[in-house]
Amino acid sequence: MAASFDPFNASYQQHPGISMSEARREEPVFYSPVLDYWIVTQYDDIKEIFKDTDTFSASITLDQITPSTEETVAVLVQHGFNPGLALVNEDGPSHQERRKAHQEPFKGREVEALLPRIREVVTGHIDKFVKNGRADLMADLFQEAPITVALIFMGIPDEDIAACRQFTLDQTVFMYGRPAPEEQKQVASNLGRYWEFTGQLVEKIRRNPDAPGWLPHVIRESQRKPGLFGDNELQTTALAGLVAAHETTTNASGNAMRALLENRETWDRVCADPALLPKAIEESLRYDGSVAAWRRLAVKETTVGGVTIPAGGRVMMITSSANHDGSVFENPEKFDIDRPHPNRHMTFGFGAHACMGATLARQEMRVFIEELTNRLPHMSLVEGQEITYLPNTSFRGPKNLLVEWDPRLNPVLADRP
Ligand code: HEM
Repeated sequence: MAASFDPFNASYQQHPGISMSEARREEPVFYSPVLDYWIVTQYDDIKEIFKDTDTFSASITLDQITPSTEETVAVLVQHGFNPGLALVNEDGPSHQERRKAHQEPFKGREVEALLPRIREVVTGHIDKFVKNGRADLMADLFQEAPITVALIFMGIPDEDIAACRQFTLDQTVFMYGRPAPEEQKQVASNLGRYWEFTGQLVEKIRRNPDAPGWLPHVIRESQRKPGLFGDNELQTTALAGLVAAHETTTNASGNAMRALLENRETWDRVCADPALLPKAIEESLRYDGSVAAWRRLAVKETTVGGVTIPAGGRVMMITSSANHDGSVFENPEKFDIDRPHPNRHMTFGFGAHACMGATLARQEMRVFIEELTNRLPHMSLVEGQEITYLPNTSFRGPKNLLVEWDPRLNPVLADRP
């Protein structure tokens, strides 16, 4: 099993959590020679790893799974691409101190203040296709709205949003995917151009540090506590922040809509009673999370689930497998919005690095799906479509999600053709 494990194969790509059920039972911790990673699949072991920050470093979190070719490296060098630590791959007291300094814009009331803008973004996109009777929810909505919301959240000036969007689409393929050399070069070129752009962005925001958003907040903190964030950290926040905020939420929304529409009765219940949405979102994050695996580095020899992991061993925690662990979630393969405590899932990580954007992500998903339940409750998945996933160890969402409906039956009269 260990020798044949390949996170790019069809069964892992189709449903990583379910595909690991035999491993969870028979060989819950194993070494994968293909990846050169120690694979961990059970809930309790994964939770212990997240908790034990002395033994497990987050430093490899953003490393590329598929190393750069020489040509790609040359492209990056050409752009002076040189990101430093990005919170998510930082350890120890400096991580805690910087995390605290980042916190303010992530708090509930700050995120709530963004609700009207999130709704405006999503309704604008739905307006474009609501009369058509057919849409690709990924291309027409979820690859569009979350990136705009992420850029607003970050405090990117309105006039720069279009340029940032172009540079930052599909970044995760670079770190967690298996891009062909040409694709890798193309993504690297976008990353490099965005990196250069972040330098100008930081300068621009510095001139208007009272503006709302995450980056202006961090710039103010850097002025308040000199030495806490240098220019490199500010640029790195602009770069890594978008990776953190955009594709994760795009994919989570796609996964949630797939699960809901495949479970028609549940979708109809949610359409009739929007108060069920938070439970439905939480269960979709458990059932088919948009982050399927996360990484750590063992800094000293240790044992996990009785298996010795050497110092320097790289560990891949299959969090989607933890989310399907029957010892924690009864009947885990069922999409059940009534289950108690679906929020015990590991999709947002756990402990010292647990996702800071979870409140924002949940709010966004709530608005996206609520608008769809209001305006297109009668939509269904196009039958016979093959739903495929981008080859990626960690970030997971459908490439396309085709839906159809009779626009003459749209419940909002203004939405009828
Ligand atoms: C459904 C959407 C999302 C998922 C599944 C997700 C998942 C994750 C995961 C797995 C981690 C690492 C946790 C760990 O190492 O223990 C993380 C960290 C982080 N996320 Fe999210 N994320 C999402 C949305 C967002 C959004 C919208 C933002 C907003 C900017 C965000 C910001 C962050 C930040 C700043 C960290 C680093 C925290 C730290 O290292 O201390 N995330 N996220």
